[in-house]
Amino acid sequence: MVKLIAEQIPITSKQTPLVVIGVFEDEVEGLMKVLDGISAPVVEMVERVVKEKEHTGSFGSSCIVHCFTSPMDRIMLLGLGQKKSLDKEKIRVLAGKAAARAIEINVSEYSIKPYTQLTKDFVEAVCEGTCLSLYKFDQYLSQKTGESLHDPPLLKISLLVDRDREEWQRVLDKTKIIIDAVNFGRDLANLPPNECSPEYLARVALDLSSRHPRISTRIIERYEMESLGLNGIVAVGMGSNKPPKLVIIEYRGNEGSSTTVPFLFVGKAVTFDTGGISIKPSERMDEMKFDKSGGCDVLAIMSGLAKLEVKANVIGIIPCVENMPSSSSYRPGDILRMYNGKTVEVINTDAEGRLILADSIAYGIEKYNPNSVIDLATLTGACIVALGSNIAGALSNSPELFAKLRQISEKTNEKFWELPLYPEFSEQIRSKFADIKNIGGRAGGTITAAIFLSNFVNETPWIHLDIAGTAWTQDGTWDKSYNPKGATGFGIRSLIRLVLDESGSR
Ligand code: BES
Ligand code: ZN
Ligand code: ZN
Repeated sequence: MVKLIAEQIPITSKQTPLVVIGVFEDEVEGLMKVLDGISAPVVEMVERVVKEKEHTGSFGSSCIVHCFTSPMDRIMLLGLGQKKSLDKEKIRVLAGKAAARAIEINVSEYSIKPYTQLTKDFVEAVCEGTCLSLYKFDQYLSQKTGESLHDPPLLKISLLVDRDREEWQRVLDKTKIIIDAVNFGRDLANLPPNECSPEYLARVALDLSSRHPRISTRIIERYEMESLGLNGIVAVGMGSNKPPKLVIIEYRGNEGSSTTVPFLFVGKAVTFDTGGISIKPSERMDEMKFDKSGGCDVLAIMSGLAKLEVKANVIGIIPCVENMPSSSSYRPGDILRMYNGKTVEVINTDAEGRLILADSIAYGIEKYNPNSVIDLATLTGACIVALGSNIAGALSNSPELFAKLRQISEKTNEKFWELPLYPEFSEQIRSKFADIKNIGGRAGGTITAAIFLSNFVNETPWIHLDIAGTAWTQDGTWDKSYNPKGATGFGIRSLIRLVLDESGSR
């Protein structure tokens, strides 16, 4: 467990096993100012380390200096790089590096002395980088790496502040709730597919409602989906002996207006995607356990919003299925009548995500009449080809909604790149025997998938986020201190902050 506290105390009186102090590559005077008042031999030692270029302040480097005196046992000099290029993202990365180094040298408590006047961005970034980087998915390891040394049951981190302690504590607490949500989403997405079935995710959703009075969860079972006409979800779920579940989570945070729903989030949760009858090659098929990431993100978002007690009503819909080949599977050639009445010819059973999302989106819009819909899905390999593994694809019918997300994404550094939803692409999913077909060929695969979804959206402002490349660390993923291997929880921070901003509860 990680605890972050703002402490209003000068560095000269803080008893601590370790204090982290930032050093700019191009400005050492700041360092000397921070050390002002500390015992002369310690200052001399630090001066020597810097003068002799043992520590240059280069970005992300660190150097431990033992003090042999109180109040601090050691100082970690942390390289901040060039002064003018330090931004929120770099602070996140640095905070992550500092935390990792502190664990490495076996301290269970340390302090951070800010290099400058505090800002909200700085405090948020320190909390985010620290708590995201300390995440580990090790529940299946019999022997945790260096157990006794490296896994302190509680890591206490003090942020030393000059004033407004309570205000900074509030920023830390709020940010910590968001990061706990990200780590909760990572924990779910990292689960192996033998453990995490559609039913498992349904139980997680039910558990949320028992823990938060403002959340209610409803599970639509397969027979009910059949009678409602949610045939896209039913079809994809047919090949598995684990029945599909449609999870619906309602969060009612706006007492004043219980009927307005500003946001509907829909998340693809294919607990394992073999491709079905159009089976995938076996190489790296194990990674298809992450095909539930969009759904796990939505569970995490709902949990975070409830803990933050956000004053808005938000609905989360998570279609949960396992896509398997068997004698009961749906087939290429099948024609499905979807929830909104449109017919779809299945050409490839591996393009299953759009089928379960289409029904969920159409159902959610009809039932809740939301002001906006955002869906998150590991939808297409083509998105990785187009944008790589660090940037998500975004397609939208609403420039206004997209502009809001873009603004947030600049702060969270969860990067989205817009692809066009031009009508020309509709031609590629025209079917001879049904209204549309479920694949549009190799050209523009991410776009044709989104065009497919647009058939189920109507005029509601909508953003589709294709997180195929960013939902977990994979080939080409930029190595960042705060993204440990496995599920990243990509999107959770941005979407929680979007709801916070839009409900006026920053
Ligand atoms: N879950 C996959 C997409 C995917 C592939 C995400 C690799 C991340 C990494 C999706 O269900 C799928 O298989 N899509 C097909 C669509 C194709 C058949 C039109 C794809 O991308 O190959
Ligand atoms: Zn697939
Ligand atoms: Zn899939």
